[in-house]
Amino acid sequence: MQFTHTHKENIMTTMTASIAGFTFDDILLNAAGVYCQTTEELDQILEAPGAGSLVTKSATPMERPGNPGVRYADMALGSINSMGLPNLSLDYYLEYAIAHQADKPLFLSIAGLSKDDNLQMLREIQASDFNGLVELNLSCPNVPGKPQTGYDFDTTRQILTEAFTFFKKPLGVKLPPYFDIAHFDMIAAVLNDFPLAFVNTINSIGNGLMVNPDTDTAMIAPKGGFGGLGGAIAKPTALANVRGLRQRLNPEIKIIGTGGVKDGRDVYDLILCGADLVSVGTTLHQEGPTVFNRLKHELETEMKVKAYDDVAQFRGQLQTLD
Ligand code: SIN
Repeated sequence: MQFTHTHKENIMTTMTASIAGFTFDDILLNAAGVYCQTTEELDQILEAPGAGSLVTKSATPMERPGNPGVRYADMALGSINSMGLPNLSLDYYLEYAIAHQADKPLFLSIAGLSKDDNLQMLREIQASDFNGLVELNLSCPNVPGKPQTGYDFDTTRQILTEAFTFFKKPLGVKLPPYFDIAHFDMIAAVLNDFPLAFVNTINSIGNGLMVNPDTDTAMIAPKGGFGGLGGAIAKPTALANVRGLRQRLNPEIKIIGTGGVKDGRDVYDLILCGADLVSVGTTLHQEGPTVFNRLKHELETEMKVKAYDDVAQFRGQLQTLD
């Protein structure tokens, strides 16, 4: 399936990807949670030069206000947040996604607070006219009392087993960061048993804590100040998870690399580690949707230095020193 859009850049470098039969004319998109809560924000990503797709805010069955108080803060090496899944409901994002699915291939993200929530939402999407890609977010660290499902390998298997009995549209999962080689092996062993179209790795590094030196308080209010870390601080963890999963997952399962993108070299590094698409969170929050065109041009510059004219030439080609 080939999609065209109105902001074709005069770039001779090929920066495309394909997932589940969808062709992406550009490889960048927003990270779920950033610039994707309202239709006004989503429209800006849809129209942004350099953005090849968008993902909607992870939805719950009903609208949620999210966590109260200051719930996002910039910090020296990125950001900390505990948003708590504020969103306008699955119906809201499903309607938007159906209305715009002919413009670009789109990701509809869902994050139920229980297995039943997730299965109910997947049933609704299955029955709908949406024909894009669905991201099942198993990794939100910010809902008080709800652990990240992606750290529970048995529950992850159970949800996917039940989901694939009826869900026939392209489905992927948004994963938390893993920090142990044994856990890369364990999650890959689960995911490889299902016909997943993609994984998105990583969600924020859950439950960090940052202090505001002026006030000696935590930087954010929810959960006693504990929140997900994003931005530059997340880059090595994101690279490791993209690389570790690319080495273990079936080749049919594509990878959206998320975490630590500030410039074109960061995008390049995620692709080198195996990312098909790259999503941008903290820097999009800080800079706005013009970030995509900047990153695209910086990536092209980096590729020229290395004499590449197609991202496919270096995707997954990281060399090691042993
Ligand atoms: C949030 O809404 O708390 C962030 C979403 C996520 O981390 O999945």
